[in-house]
Amino acid sequence: MRNLKQVLTQLETYSVPQYKNIIKLNQNESPYDVPEFLKKEIQAELELADWNRYADLRPKALIHAISEYTDHPPEGIIPGNGSNEMIQTLMNAFCYSSDSILVVSPGFSVYPRLAKVMGLEIIEVPLLEDFSFDVPAIIEKSAGVQLLFLAVPNAPTGTILTVDQIRQIAEKIDGVLIVDEAYYEFYGETAQSLIREYDNLVVIRTFSKAFSLAGLRLGYMLAPPDAAIHLDKAKLPFSVGVFQQIGGEVLMRNFHYIQKIASEIIEERERLLGEMRALSGINFVPSKTNFVLFEIKHMTASEVYQAFFEHGVLIRVFKGGRLDSYVRVTVGSPEENNVFLEKLKQIAGK
Ligand SMILES: Cc1ncc(COP(=O)(O)O)c(C=O)c1O
Repeated sequence: MRNLKQVLTQLETYSVPQYKNIIKLNQNESPYDVPEFLKKEIQAELELADWNRYADLRPKALIHAISEYTDHPPEGIIPGNGSNEMIQTLMNAFCYSSDSILVVSPGFSVYPRLAKVMGLEIIEVPLLEDFSFDVPAIIEKSAGVQLLFLAVPNAPTGTILTVDQIRQIAEKIDGVLIVDEAYYEFYGETAQSLIREYDNLVVIRTFSKAFSLAGLRLGYMLAPPDAAIHLDKAKLPFSVGVFQQIGGEVLMRNFHYIQKIASEIIEERERLLGEMRALSGINFVPSKTNFVLFEIKHMTASEVYQAFFEHGVLIRVFKGGRLDSYVRVTVGSPEENNVFLEKLKQIAGK
């Protein structure tokens, strides 16, 4: 079609393989659906809502629940259609075309993807050999950069920055630092307190991982209140519908339940890491998330993917670069992890 941006003809379609009747460990979702008692509560509130009306632009109950959970002032909270929308909103808010953003590599693919569509320049800073962050290189390469996106913990590696390292970066850069805490509940450390100290830092989070709501599309931003009022103008109005507002609020109100599930997933992650440590044929990256990146010696990533697929387990492969030989597995339920481990021991035990 005429006038279509050329970059769209070059960009690959975003796709993740989906199969039925398989142990699905490829998208870092929660293995546990929202429990029946909470689904009933959501359904009851949904029944009472006016579906013919636009949803609240500033959903009070949801924002209040997020504020209680995060201890961040309600005026500094912006809910969005997944944290992906928050990423797009921040690029809209801070970048003119041909401005640059900084990301690490390997990192979350949505940052460069959205940046390309917006015509932004992308500065990629490689992670170190062990997939940890290269803080001095991030600071050095940030000269003239408008926005830095750092997922902490990082996806798909699961590696972290400490709050002190994040502080060091925020202090030294000219641009704005976005700390993507999609996996916060599995890590437990947050850069949130730095929002009060620095005027160039925003935190984004999601309901798609620990909160079991990937299917609803809900995320949020924690920003300084005086900036949030303007950042909100760069976001699509009404992108958070009635279902997301109610679902998110009910789950947030029950965050003690979510924290219990998150600790069970952390325990399972530690079990997986412990089992992996005992195998000789594998290299893995110690993770603070609900997934683990690993490679099996003498096998390609697609051979590993295929071996698990034939065993009824779906994991994630990546294209190109340093992840050529790596695959990623999401931490599932204990039963799912047992099936995964059974195959892993067969192929990496030697
Ligand atoms: C680091 C990171 N940020 C953001 C997201 C997207 O989350 P959401 O479902 O809220 O758009 C993901 C999803 O995998 C992620 O890994």
